[in-house]
Amino acid sequence: MSPAAPRATRPGHGRTWAKAILLGEHSVVYGHPAVALPLHDLEMTATVTPTAGPSWLHSLGYDGPLREGGPRFACIARALEAAREFSGLLGQSFRIETRSDFPHERGLGSSAAAAGAIIRAVLDSCGRSATMEELLALTHMAEQVAHDRPSGLDAAATSAPAPIRFQSGEMRPLAQRIAGGHIVIADSGVHGSTREAVRGLRLRYEASPAVLGPKLQHLGDLTTTATHALDTGDAPLLGAAMNEAHTTLGELGLSLPVLDRLTDAARGAGALGAKLTGGGLGGCVIALAAGAEPAARVRQALDDVGARRTWIYRMRTSQTARNAS
Ligand code: MEV
Repeated sequence: MSPAAPRATRPGHGRTWAKAILLGEHSVVYGHPAVALPLHDLEMTATVTPTAGPSWLHSLGYDGPLREGGPRFACIARALEAAREFSGLLGQSFRIETRSDFPHERGLGSSAAAAGAIIRAVLDSCGRSATMEELLALTHMAEQVAHDRPSGLDAAATSAPAPIRFQSGEMRPLAQRIAGGHIVIADSGVHGSTREAVRGLRLRYEASPAVLGPKLQHLGDLTTTATHALDTGDAPLLGAAMNEAHTTLGELGLSLPVLDRLTDAARGAGALGAKLTGGGLGGCVIALAAGAEPAARVRQALDDVGARRTWIYRMRTSQTARNAS
């Protein structure tokens, strides 16, 4: 007798979280390193319930049949398909529900986090286990629909237990020795399409590689500086790298006046550094503050200049292996 085909017999659950790219967004797509922080307090959870009808999606502001979700939910549709293929559940429909503590299309990794949570939930519904590499590969498949040639950084950071350095598909946990560091995150309220930002930069790069190539290299070098700053607990060095990265991302056409206003306000209130994070052209900025009280002042300044929402993330120190760059 052949073994019984796997079946989804119960609701499955999956969990991921938001991420903030500290340094290296965009340049990571061109093979340079990036550093990202998993934001464990900002969760994305998914519940999938086996159903007889067509798959239904209640996620990221949409409530309707999955197949009618359009291009914005193509990443989720691909995540479901990839997870079903992986676990042998082809043909099984699900009601999919996600809940998140953070907004979507704001550079905090919502599409990778949703895809990753749904994939985990589908596997959970049939008791299928997977290694971290397999989960990342499945999430990356989904992300390829959402972004133009994603680096894989978002998929990795939205499920990482600790800050990571990521380059060309390789990730490793980073030591973090900045004591008392806080990252203030502010939502500009402007939707940023990572797909459009990445595609636009690619077109500009292809038109002027001699001008843009060195700027991307500079972002990669700043990431190496940031890795060193985290390793040695040097908050002013990290802040300076963040400021410089924001300027360079602006030169690459990825900032907006609203993001410059927010980063200026954060610096004016004492942040050691501030920059856009993620795809840019909207979304969020992050600012580094040297303690809880400075972080509260930075947050107030960001609220005062019109941030839609703000969060404070306390950087926990970790004594993992020393960071070689
Ligand atoms: C988006 O969160 C990060 C980008 O570098 C794109 C990518 O890494 O695929 C802009």
